[in-house]
Amino acid sequence: MKAFRGAVLVVSHDRRFLENVATSVAWLRQGVVRQMDKGYTAFEEWTEQVEAEEEKALDKLNTQLKAEERWMARGVTARRKRNMGRVRKLHEMRSEGRHRKTALNEAASTASLAIDSGSQSGRLVIEAKNVSKTFQTPDGALPIVNNLSLRVMRGDRLGLVGPNGAGKTTLLKLLLGQLPPDDGNIRLAKNLDIAYLDQTRATLTPDMTLWNTLAPLGGDQIIVRGYPKHVAAYAKDFLFESRQLHQPVGALSGGERNRLTLALALAKPSNLLILDEPTNDLDIETLDLLEDMLSEFDGTLLLVSHDRAFIDNVVTSVLTPEGDGVWLETPGGYADYVSQRNAAAKQAASAAKAEAKSAANPAQKTAASKLTYKDQRRLEELDRLMPERQEEIINLEDAMADGSLFGKDPKAFQARANRLSAARIELATYEEEWLALEAKREALSRS
Ligand SMILES: Nc1ncnc2c1ncn2[C@@H]1O[C@H](COP(=O)(O)OP(=O)(O)OP(=O)(O)O)[C@@H](O)[C@H]1O
Ligand SMILES: [Mg+2]
Repeated sequence: MKAFRGAVLVVSHDRRFLENVATSVAWLRQGVVRQMDKGYTAFEEWTEQVEAEEEKALDKLNTQLKAEERWMARGVTARRKRNMGRVRKLHEMRSEGRHRKTALNEAASTASLAIDSGSQSGRLVIEAKNVSKTFQTPDGALPIVNNLSLRVMRGDRLGLVGPNGAGKTTLLKLLLGQLPPDDGNIRLAKNLDIAYLDQTRATLTPDMTLWNTLAPLGGDQIIVRGYPKHVAAYAKDFLFESRQLHQPVGALSGGERNRLTLALALAKPSNLLILDEPTNDLDIETLDLLEDMLSEFDGTLLLVSHDRAFIDNVVTSVLTPEGDGVWLETPGGYADYVSQRNAAAKQAASAAKAEAKSAANPAQKTAASKLTYKDQRRLEELDRLMPERQEEIINLEDAMADGSLFGKDPKAFQARANRLSAARIELATYEEEWLALEAKREALSRS
């Protein structure tokens, strides 16, 4: 055979024979043919390497699966229709093993949700200086706000949390200039388009249909934040069924009516959105939808809610009444406020303990059971970045698989190859960071 001048194709199990004659080896395994342009002596090493690479890819896939599971585990999100698709895909991924393709679709759908977080240009939206307000009641003075100074910057999402009657609605009205303060002053930025979802929701006309309520001037379009959209599509965004479009709104359930007033408020172009208890009566699916919409909203948000998880998922800082009209602003979500308050209480208690040299310590010890705000945000960021990078890698791989590219444009080919290896490194770094944070989260939740 060595003496034969033509090409030879040999199938053999005889290794020594192959070592002697083969100049190139094709390896057929699991329906895939791979080729190595070396003699059979290099075969072992080559197959080991290929298998190691496959294992690594599988690890990555498992990380992706883990990320998917995490999306599922978030519970709330899994209930959204969009996310149901995600859950279905996850099962597909497992059963069919069509890993890569699904990962690609997944990455694409996640990427399309990319949020314009808006510029944090630090412009002042509301400034309150030494504001006080006291109501006079038959039983005496009722201090609602006592010497509050507060700055709300563009893009801030301020959550107001506190018991009934604490003064949240009153404070919003003060901040909006709808109610004059007794003392101090409030400045609102110019050019504010304010959308205010009033707690009373007295806006719906019961005998108007859902359709007419959304498009009161007739036609089949509603202007959503400046862009025309079909009424039916917008109603669908808010989880209404098409059969409900011609129903009078008086026949809608309480939660559905709330959902509709929200749809109306969120359609208005606004850069300052004020929602006074938008979460009342809303089912989990709608809450989840609202969370999603608010997370995409890049204006400034003032939000009153008794739903702590909702607050936690949406706001950048919370404002809480601490009694006698004193309000405290804490950066982070509601959980951050609670842990900071507990830490402060603990500190105060241990200071008191040291002073009294008493053995009694009433401080409630709270082990943090959640990630810090910063870690949580990073984790969310990574959830977004990983599929983005994955999609980029797959796109680059596809582009480079086009065999003619190198011949046509070697420079472009090289640029892609460089970007591809950089993207792979980035992805691996994100995944490691993600796993570390995830492990931390699991450890915390177990403690
Ligand atoms: N014009 C008024 N005159 C006297 N008291 C008032 C007036 N407006 C509100 N109050 C009282 O001020 C307190 C705060 O009311 P506010 O509506 O701001 O509470 P809230 O925090 O929004 O409560 P909720 O969680 O129930 O919405 C309540 O006790 C209310 O009765
Ligand atoms: Mg209120």
